[in-house]
Amino acid sequence: MLNVENLILHYQTRRGIVRAVDGVSFTIVKGETMALVGESGCGKSSTANAIMRLLPRNVASFSGKVELEGEDLMKLQDREFSRRIAWKRISMVFQGAMNSLNPVLRVGYQVAEPLIIHEGFDMRHALKKVMEVMELVRLPSSIVDRYPHELSGGMKQRVVIAMALIMGPSLVILDEPTSALDVITQANIMNTLKDLKKSLGLAYIFITHDLDLASELADKVAVMYGGKIVELGKAEDIFEDPRHPYTERLIASVPTLRTDRKLEFIPGAPPDLINPPTGCLFHPRCPFIHEICKKKPPAPVEEGERRILCWLYARS
Ligand SMILES: Nc1ncnc2c1ncn2[C@@H]1O[C@H](COP(=O)(O)OP(=O)(O)OP(=O)(O)O)[C@@H](O)[C@H]1O
Ligand code: SF4
Ligand SMILES: [Mg+2]
Repeated sequence: MLNVENLILHYQTRRGIVRAVDGVSFTIVKGETMALVGESGCGKSSTANAIMRLLPRNVASFSGKVELEGEDLMKLQDREFSRRIAWKRISMVFQGAMNSLNPVLRVGYQVAEPLIIHEGFDMRHALKKVMEVMELVRLPSSIVDRYPHELSGGMKQRVVIAMALIMGPSLVILDEPTSALDVITQANIMNTLKDLKKSLGLAYIFITHDLDLASELADKVAVMYGGKIVELGKAEDIFEDPRHPYTERLIASVPTLRTDRKLEFIPGAPPDLINPPTGCLFHPRCPFIHEICKKKPPAPVEEGERRILCWLYARS
């Protein structure tokens, strides 16, 4: 359904070029969920924004292939992309979106707006559609008359998910959709997302820094580090048998209530994306470093359905 190849999004800043997305490739089949995980600043939101073509003014380069059901979206003009693709076929729940609902508009109107403005629906028909979507996200239909300040955080987040669903997309990018919520509300929303996946056959790109959440929903996991996917594979394989040293550390650093296992942490800091380390970007923090790691960037190695970017797995 979605095929992303060698996606690049670099930003121009006064200090230099930020290589936020640096050759990202993955595929998603219909109805599949891919979790995109990694530390803050590794380029998760930038990857999502690049796919949705929501680019800031300071873009230094934007290239690669983004194919949706065989059509190369990168070849489309911006207008064509907004008319046919954005929100209708791929939509997105932005990081922190529930805090940017318009405080002076009723939520029903905010969800209905694209139908009215872009699809020529009248208010009555648009609201009917909104109520159907509200039911899908388990909100009462009376909510359409309320203002954002009258809603709880969980309800606001459901409204934002309704906004992403209103145009009937088949792929929804969820950028940290529950990270501002308490664990119970978070679990409820995760259950709704799971139900929507089943009933509507939705595919998701689920962006999170929370590996426990990723394991709840994901069929597949992509681990991002310094603008690159360093490991990609089936969720159970990645969680049970992580191969890349970074994935291993990331999983070992997740706290659990049930064991008294000592938490590991990853020494050092994520790479500076303006002056990245030479060779493998993880080399300054990696316990398995070899001479070559400092000199030459590793090439991706495929092992069955898994792809790893690390010299330890390179075939000689
Ligand atoms: N418009 C921009 N101009 C310059 N640098 C940017 C811009 N947007 C993001 N960046 C930088 O690009 C890198 C990747 O940012 P991005 O927001 O994609 O990370 P992220 O993985 O989503 O992080 P988080 O988990 O904190 O949301 C960061 O170093 C960030 O500072
Ligand atoms: S390539 Fe070398 S430094 Fe990078 S993760 Fe693998 S072993 Fe560590
Ligand atoms: Mg982000």
